[in-house]
Amino acid sequence: MTRQLLVTSALPYANGPIHLGHLVEYIQTDIFVRYQRLRGHRVAYVCADDTHGTAIMIRAQKEGRSPEDLIADVASQHRRDFAAFGVSFDHYGSTNSASNLAVCTGIWKNLRARNLIVERKVDRLFDPVQKTFLADRFVVGDCPRCGTKDQYGDSCESCGSTYAATELKNPRSVHSGASPELRPSSQLFVRLEPLQPFLEEWTQRSGALQPEVANYLAGHFLDKPLQDWDVSRPAPYFGFEIPDAKGNFWYVWFDAPVGYIASTTDWCEKSGGSLDAWWKNPDCEIVHFLGKDITYFHTLFWPALLHVGGYQLPRRVQIHGFLRVNGEKMSKSKGTFVTAARYLEHLDPEWLRYYYASKLSDKIDDLDFQADEFVGKVNSDLVGRVVNLASRSARFVESTGLATHYPDDGGLFARGATAGEAIAAAYEACDFREAMRLVMTLADAANEYVERTAPWTIRKDPARADELRNVCTVVLNLFRQIVVYLQPVLPRLAERASGLFASPCDRWNSTTEPLIGCSIAKFEHMATRVEPERVKAMFVPEAAVPAPSASAPTPADANDALGKEPLAAQVSIEDFQKVDLRVAKIVAAEAVPEAKKLLRLTLSLGSGPTRNVFAGIKGAYEPERLVGRLVVMVANLAPRTMKFGVSEGMVVAAGTDGEVYLLSPDTGAKAGQRLH
Ligand code: 2FM
Ligand code: ZN
Repeated sequence: MTRQLLVTSALPYANGPIHLGHLVEYIQTDIFVRYQRLRGHRVAYVCADDTHGTAIMIRAQKEGRSPEDLIADVASQHRRDFAAFGVSFDHYGSTNSASNLAVCTGIWKNLRARNLIVERKVDRLFDPVQKTFLADRFVVGDCPRCGTKDQYGDSCESCGSTYAATELKNPRSVHSGASPELRPSSQLFVRLEPLQPFLEEWTQRSGALQPEVANYLAGHFLDKPLQDWDVSRPAPYFGFEIPDAKGNFWYVWFDAPVGYIASTTDWCEKSGGSLDAWWKNPDCEIVHFLGKDITYFHTLFWPALLHVGGYQLPRRVQIHGFLRVNGEKMSKSKGTFVTAARYLEHLDPEWLRYYYASKLSDKIDDLDFQADEFVGKVNSDLVGRVVNLASRSARFVESTGLATHYPDDGGLFARGATAGEAIAAAYEACDFREAMRLVMTLADAANEYVERTAPWTIRKDPARADELRNVCTVVLNLFRQIVVYLQPVLPRLAERASGLFASPCDRWNSTTEPLIGCSIAKFEHMATRVEPERVKAMFVPEAAVPAPSASAPTPADANDALGKEPLAAQVSIEDFQKVDLRVAKIVAAEAVPEAKKLLRLTLSLGSGPTRNVFAGIKGAYEPERLVGRLVVMVANLAPRTMKFGVSEGMVVAAGTDGEVYLLSPDTGAKAGQRLH
């Protein structure tokens, strides 16, 4: 029976790059999705960028551009990274979309109609410098329970207690470092208590949750009346203004999961489908993949919204643990916080897909990346046990093709076909580690056959040509069977193998019928071994990552800026005041093609004519990313005629050559303001 599945991965925030931690989830989901497609089921895999909230608003301000501009930029980076890792979304949208606003509005109306929204005054922490209310994660201070320093405003990493941000001792804003003030604000809440019987039923008895998740919810939340959920934020906030509560915005966690529906809406519009066939159809299985840190949003709030909104509930919520590297949290200073882009500079994306698959189970355990294990699995499993089957046999039948009858293989192919059931069950359960283990057992049996029959010896004797063809027919069929089983994990390997056989490896059923009589294409390499040095090179601590086009600094370079460029002779304040430093906005930026280091910047001082300035920052900044940004310029420098035009000022930057850092004023500064 053909099943219909709507599958999602959690929406990544649009304020940072995709990293190896994110990829645990996207690769896990993609394997599940590709597996379902391989089985012939109908799948929609949707996702989107999670674009709203204070963090994005503040970063955009700091960079002197609009949040829309920032999220567009990040969206294209995210799409590029996902594509490189073979994550096969049917649609990748954005929560900052008209469709999302429409779905949020519909759900909100239903919440109002059921009298589930209440308004209350609450005191919230306010950053007097940034002039914004502070979300819990943007306040740090001492834990009110155990006193540990530098804890976030919602929970303590040391003693595990949860509390309100207003309870933190010595609080300070993450954005400005200022001590927050308490300011009253009117907040809207969703009453969850009336929905408690429904949530109890769904979490404990629907079978949608892993047992440990159901137990966690029962023990931590459902054992007492559910608290109202604070779903509004006062302006300024980058998000959707609540249509019937002007000046208030939906908290990002209200509209983020709704993005799953909105992204499906956009996909349906694009492909001519109907949203109701996916979200209001009891036959459609909705499956969410997410990390353990966002469990309660997806297992309490989200089902409550779906229920009230009249949508189908998830059939399954598959929760995974975090990525650790060598047993520790990922860390920028240790170099273990690796972005997708950095990984791709060094290593093949399919290696990571296989490595993660070989470690992922259906449990919520953390996954530990170990460099040696990574190298071992890629080289011994992928190349040594799988790809070698083809590289040791395909060349011998390039001219003859496969035998026209499937030879006696002692039951190997049939055994592989039978194993399909257990492999399928493991994929279905998201126990990919078990699926990989079963496939590698088949690969071992195939390799034993190759060793036993030794085609490289047979080929030396022309009288044994038929035997050679038979042996290679068996080996290549076993290889193909294995590749089909691995297709959800290694889609590019499957594509290459499809080219070898001139027959696609994209149907699970093809594992039960051997190929006979077909031609074999010229053998092209299918996967390479990983050099351990390349993995090491990827884990470089952040301070040691060279700036674009600069050579790697030695530790002395990194720490001894003062020694490299000693302080200049003392000047009087009058001397200093002769230099007119101004805040300027970059309104246009382009590379000067004839100059190795120069960008041509057009700077605005708020009023008056714009200035043309040549800046030696080409190696460090892409021109298009500078537009809209505030910088500091020397505004009264005598114009200088250069080969490419007149430079009417100078942009202030730290460092030299490739290692250049532009200076930016804090948020709120205006173009034209003088620096004193
Ligand atoms: O935790 C996160 O990264 C969130 N951006 C996940 C949102 S998932 C969904 F609810 F939108
Ligand atoms: Zn504590």
